[in-house]
Amino acid sequence: MRFTAHARAHCAECHGVETSVEDFSPNADAPDFSVVANTPGMTERALVVWLQTSHPTMPDLIIPPEVRDNLVAYIMTLKKK
Ligand code: HEC
Repeated sequence: MRFTAHARAHCAECHGVETSVEDFSPNADAPDFSVVANTPGMTERALVVWLQTSHPTMPDLIIPPEVRDNLVAYIMTLKKK
């Protein structure tokens, strides 16, 4: 799927992007996406805002809006029911 490929290409060097196994980010400072998704109060809106702003610890990510929305939707699928 497109967004998984995108996450793998652009996020996986730091974040654990794929599995639901926690604590698997290559960069210890970058939270595993399943951890992000399961942060209490985390919403798609909050993720979109995060990805639209710049962060000292993360490279400025230039992500086309439709890809961003897919990434955000993907991250939220990692949320445990
Ligand atoms: C060069 C390393 C690096 C890359 C590449 C990277 N990140 Fe990050 N990311 C980080 C770090 C480090 C943090 C923790 C920042 C902090 O807490 O201040 C972070 C935090 C985040 C957070 C916030 C988590 C939270 O709990 O608030 C999100 C969402 C996120 N990254 C998404 C992405 C996405 C999506 C991509 C790919 C398009 C990506 N990141 C690529 C290093 C990276």
